[in-house]
Amino acid sequence: MTMIRKYTVCRCCCQVIGVRNMPDDGNLLTGTGLFVFPPEAWYNQCMNPLEVKLGTLKLRTPIVLASGTAGYGEISTFFNIKNLGALTLKAVSIRKRDGNLPPRIAETPSGIMNAIGLANEGIDYFEKHIVPKLSRLKTTLIANVVGDSVEEYALICRKLNRHKIISAIELNVSCPNVKGKKKLFCEDPDVLSAMVSSCKKASSKPIIVKLPPAVFGIEEMAERVEKAGADMLSLVNTVPAMEIDIMKERPVLGNNVGGLSGPAIRPIALRLVHRASQAVKIPIIGGGGVADAADVIKFILAGATAVSVGTSSMIRPDLTDRLAEDLIAILKRKGVDDIAALRGRLSFNGV
Ligand SMILES: Cc1cc2nc3c(=O)[nH]c(=O)nc-3n(C[C@H](O)[C@H](O)[C@H](O)COP(=O)(O)O)c2cc1C
Repeated sequence: MTMIRKYTVCRCCCQVIGVRNMPDDGNLLTGTGLFVFPPEAWYNQCMNPLEVKLGTLKLRTPIVLASGTAGYGEISTFFNIKNLGALTLKAVSIRKRDGNLPPRIAETPSGIMNAIGLANEGIDYFEKHIVPKLSRLKTTLIANVVGDSVEEYALICRKLNRHKIISAIELNVSCPNVKGKKKLFCEDPDVLSAMVSSCKKASSKPIIVKLPPAVFGIEEMAERVEKAGADMLSLVNTVPAMEIDIMKERPVLGNNVGGLSGPAIRPIALRLVHRASQAVKIPIIGGGGVADAADVIKFILAGATAVSVGTSSMIRPDLTDRLAEDLIAILKRKGVDDIAALRGRLSFNGV
């Protein structure tokens, strides 16, 4: 059997975007070699099948690294940054936070629990030492903000507004409102609205509100932040959880409780992303437990425009390269030219 070379050409500009060896009997299954060109070869074409528009942001791919799982981009040496749509930086607060007592991470079935406690050096350090190093990251950068009061959130947003390298600001609203008797910001609807509108006034950058996995009432929360002026939603944050050491008769985490992430939470997250997408018009970065390209497609079908990856990328730092490659393969298998066309295409069984 002789092998022939099959070229794939961009339908729009006629440039060659892929080539593979296949037998002359045309049987694709016995062909050797996948597309020789890596996914990034597609990104320069006029028709990049993975490009998505997240509000005013144009992302090369729908893949977004989740906050806290990619540091300030130090891990970018492990993967090809061109395969990322965006990288969300680790949380920044007004002052230095030391974080929680160890152990801060524990393994669980199909996931991990963490109680890092949003440890970071504070906004002044961030501006002075982190921001100057960010320009080496050739991708869209999203800052992630935490605080103890509405005023703190707004002040950080005002400071971040001066840095061109930051394309958008994500508000982590699953933090205790110190003034609100330790109620989380997301648990107090009026405070949540006030926070979003203050941050909108403080910065001209798109404001993304990161919602918790509220199993009841996610629609109301999503509608409220949209009404208050949020440009996008991101969901879900980790699921509150606890694990117990039976010999010590104590919780395994130093902080007693933590946030569950990884594949264990994916079905919860998918439902919530779908429900939120039915309730609002603003775009959604969906995620929680994404481990492969099929998971990315699931979140897009459920209504997400872009998809975040966290825990699984900590286990496998080059996962995002694999995701980009496999997404292109899935699109080809489904006969779809443009990943954005799959958004919200989920149809329900007639029960
Ligand atoms: C170790 C760790 C640190 C995290 N730190 C942050 C953070 O600083 N800010 C934030 O908004 N979310 C943080 N998260 C939540 C993730 O961004 C993500 O929303 C969550 O883990 C669910 O996605 P996953 O299952 O893909 O990890 C953290 C998660 C982990 C596992």
